[in-house]
Amino acid sequence: MSRLGRLLWGKITPRRVLLRLVEATNARLGRRAQGRLYFEDLYRERDPWNYEESAYEQVKYAKTLELLPQPRFQRALEVGCSIGVFTHQLAAKADEVIALDISARACRRARMRCADQPQVHIRRGDLVHFVDAAGFDLILCAEMLYYLWDRPRERAIVGSRLGALLRPGGWLALVFGGSGVGQDWEGELERRAGLVRHETRFFDDPVRSWRFSLLRKPG
Ligand SMILES: C[S@@+](CC[C@H](N)C(=O)[O-])C[C@H]1O[C@@H](n2cnc3c(N)ncnc32)[C@H](O)[C@@H]1O
Repeated sequence: MSRLGRLLWGKITPRRVLLRLVEATNARLGRRAQGRLYFEDLYRERDPWNYEESAYEQVKYAKTLELLPQPRFQRALEVGCSIGVFTHQLAAKADEVIALDISARACRRARMRCADQPQVHIRRGDLVHFVDAAGFDLILCAEMLYYLWDRPRERAIVGSRLGALLRPGGWLALVFGGSGVGQDWEGELERRAGLVRHETRFFDDPVRSWRFSLLRKPG
């Protein structure tokens, strides 16, 4: 086999070809490359980010819960809940948890995992279109806003949407890791939604550095 053949061996699978096609088509149509189909494809694997097993994720989840500004919340929204590993832990902190994910496959798994938590409601949907009249006193966006950063229109919608979804005095907690640490979502949310930054902490984990930020809606 040629050197190029050896390099590409096992890398060009039908699934990867399909995914590239979906991304290219979305780009041509002016849609988000990492939209619903992208995530549905990723969730052909049961746990694409290894949330169930990863010690790094467990430490990050524990630290995130510890840094929340109150021991308990009335209504919490988790955006990008994936297969519900963190959702299950967040359930102990709120009277009601709405957990949103763009992928139906992820939502099915999250629903099964959280079946023993009646206060948790898993919703399939895109944050860009999500509305809720009652509002939340906590919104948590962990490792998902990256996917919306590169599209200025959606970035602007999400910036103001998150503010609108918060009740006066409500808290927004953000978690970013790896390459996303460079995106200034905090600044975006201060400008677009009038949120006030309460704190940002950086964690130099040897696996992958990450940051946690807390913003509050005045009121
Ligand atoms: C990297 S995972 C993070 C999962 C979880 N928050 C955590 O930290 O363990 C990102 C998740 O966000 C979801 N997602 C991506 N874009 C979304 C959007 N626009 N609206 C809702 N969910 C989205 C994906 O389906 C995926 O499950």
